[in-house]
Amino acid sequence: MAGPSDPVIETKALTKVYKSKTGSHVAVDGVNLRVDKGEFFGLLGSNGAGKSTLIGLLTTVIKPTRGRMRVAGASVKHRPVAVKRAISVVPQRNSLDPQLTLAENLEFHGRMFGLGARQARRRATRLLQECGIEDVASRTIRRVSGGQGRRALIARALMHQPQVLFLDEPTAGVDIKARRLVWNLLRGVHAAGTTIVLTTHYLEEAQELCGRIAILNRGKITAIGSPDKLRSEAGLQTVVTIQLSGDAEAVAAAADQMPEVTKVEHHGDTLRLYTHKPDGLIREVVFLAESAGLHVTSATTAAPSLDRVFLTLTSKTQPGPSVPV
Ligand SMILES: Nc1ncnc2c1ncn2[C@@H]1O[C@H](COP(=O)(O)OP(=O)(O)OP(=O)(O)O)[C@@H](O)[C@H]1O
Ligand SMILES: [Mg+2]
Repeated sequence: MAGPSDPVIETKALTKVYKSKTGSHVAVDGVNLRVDKGEFFGLLGSNGAGKSTLIGLLTTVIKPTRGRMRVAGASVKHRPVAVKRAISVVPQRNSLDPQLTLAENLEFHGRMFGLGARQARRRATRLLQECGIEDVASRTIRRVSGGQGRRALIARALMHQPQVLFLDEPTAGVDIKARRLVWNLLRGVHAAGTTIVLTTHYLEEAQELCGRIAILNRGKITAIGSPDKLRSEAGLQTVVTIQLSGDAEAVAAAADQMPEVTKVEHHGDTLRLYTHKPDGLIREVVFLAESAGLHVTSATTAAPSLDRVFLTLTSKTQPGPSVPV
């Protein structure tokens, strides 16, 4: 995997203002973003936060109002064709050709990216199978379910091997079993070296797949980093529950003196510690327990869920831009 000196996506002050008769709306507001080769990157944000607009800008579909961006080593403004050849996109709205069957859609896409007819047919068959939709391969998009259509779009995006794969809510409306199928497929694509950027409203999806996540709020990136970094930025505490071999009172009093512990509760043999720094805490409590003539019989750590982190980080931010004409 490439190091941090190998950006695949770079934006500088990237801005998109949608103009209409009633006013202007800043959908993407001065975004500076860098995603390195080999990353699995997640873009989270509420409805209307600007995720699809940002994906549209990076994939040459939407023209920026201001700012610069490079994708896969090329300027999106000056070399859009080079960018198009290097990427693959699963858009939020279904864009399969309604005249063609799912299989034909995939084959046609493969041919456009230089595959031979037989190669395209074989690859399409395999991907339709991997996405679990081989039984509806000969139907048009109108005659398949919403979730099957989403999976067909993902399969189409994998017909060629892009440097960067963009997925805008790939598993929206996809059932739990099929979602796991898609996750495994994406993990394989990522392991083979493709950089992946996805948007999702499923926090579990981001947690499962993404090494880094950006939170977009009214067009601005308000937090960025690994899920753990976002947890610590959100200031939410981890709860460590420890079961002791006897009454926890003495150990609770000692734990209360530890600087990394913000709150202590104890009830009989059970001790509950609240902390921002869970690393190494259980080991220290084991020592405290030994000094009190006790031992630890079990210990569990409950980190705050990414859902709570998201809600905390998105509610902390200021009202966003709205520019009257
Ligand atoms: N073509 C357009 N013209 C005018 N405004 C638009 C247009 N497309 C999007 N917007 C507005 O820009 C903002 C960002 O929209 P965008 O689709 O990027 O959000 P999103 O984060 O993808 O939301 P969702 O989670 O609902 O998909 C919204 O307020 C939306 O109403
Ligand atoms: Mg969207």
